[in-house]
Amino acid sequence: MDIVIRPTQVDAVKLTAMIIADTLRRNPAAVLGLATGRTFQPVYALLVEEFTEGRIDFSGVTTFNLDEYAGIAETDPRSFSAYMREQLFSKVNVSPDRCHLPDGTAADLAESCKAYESAIAAAGGIDLQLLGIGLTGHVGFNEPGSALHSRTRTKALSEITREQYRQYFNNGQEVPARAVTMGIGTILDAQRCLLLATGSEKSAVIAEALEGPITASVPASALQFHENCTVLLDEAAASRLNNTEYYLTTFAHEPEWAEYRERNL
Ligand code: F6R
Repeated sequence: MDIVIRPTQVDAVKLTAMIIADTLRRNPAAVLGLATGRTFQPVYALLVEEFTEGRIDFSGVTTFNLDEYAGIAETDPRSFSAYMREQLFSKVNVSPDRCHLPDGTAADLAESCKAYESAIAAAGGIDLQLLGIGLTGHVGFNEPGSALHSRTRTKALSEITREQYRQYFNNGQEVPARAVTMGIGTILDAQRCLLLATGSEKSAVIAEALEGPITASVPASALQFHENCTVLLDEAAASRLNNTEYYLTTFAHEPEWAEYRERNL
């Protein structure tokens, strides 16, 4: 795992967006695994800017989102489909038939989860998987206790997660109790994972996930198994880590980060 700490949320977001943009410039037919949530909104805004200014092209890109609420239709404004349309898909030239999200309303959810896994495999697997982290340590909606080899399936959301997402559900509407999510095994199959966490409220779970034991109780800790996982943090999210000095040297001195240092990122 490469852990990179940038001073502010803006710096961490910018570096994340540039890594994604560089991935698309190197491989215009990249398969991206996408995350929703607050953390990634400014990242998508920067990608839209890169596109608008002609520096990236989504016409050959395929996307697979991590998750969708069970029982919420893609047309519902609270769905993650709606989030993706609003934040990214409607603003860039990605082909709608190459944008995939789990179907939260499939008549046979188990079959539809299998089909999602098959579609990822048929696309050649995920080149770059974007990940946020929830307060329970979830990645995707793999809540504590998720099998570390799990594949796409429905998963009950914890009360902490439902509270985290309540802000999107107004007028007394309940946050769904379940979601369809890629499994930890699905995520670990990606060529590269990019976890972004910002803000002090993520500092405790980040310390557990990155420096604690690998355990299903903190699902994000499974990323310690991944051979090509980059974790991007701002100082606030990194504030409870122990090996901070070592992580700071990664960005300051390692050759793979030289081009980003030169670009003042
Ligand atoms: C969303 C997802 C979740 C979020 C996580 C962090 O597709 O898979 O794991 O990334 O809950 O959410 P925010 O960014 O809103 O703190």
